[in-house]
Amino acid sequence: MTELKDLLQSADWKKEKHAPVIESPEKITKGEAVSVKASVGKEIAHPNMTAHHIRWIEIYFLPAGEKFPYQIGKFEFTSHGESGQGADTSTVYTAPEVSLKFKTEKSGTILASSYCSIHGLWQSSKLVTVE
Ligand code: FE2
Repeated sequence: MTELKDLLQSADWKKEKHAPVIESPEKITKGEAVSVKASVGKEIAHPNMTAHHIRWIEIYFLPAGEKFPYQIGKFEFTSHGESGQGADTSTVYTAPEVSLKFKTEKSGTILASSYCSIHGLWQSSKLVTVE
């Protein structure tokens, strides 16, 4: 049986344009809001066309030692050039980059997943330590 987890690809975002990039401090302060930026294509740009684009990014936080992650953001990128005149005619394209803030009192892992309209599901993660 194929499981969703088997379809989540991961790679070094510096070499693979689909891997989500998570930018945040590695050390954070207990209970203080921390800024997180998630994007796709930071090092190698991903196409942003009607037929081929990044459709969404989701961001989770898994506190150390816990079993279940908390979803802290879910973002859809909903314009990719389409219009009444057809594909790639509107000149409007949403870039796959988002920022959010969250706070935690525990160290843990920020995880991001993303979806390419052609190349499927991708994931990445980043450890953050509460000082
Ligand atoms: Fe792609």
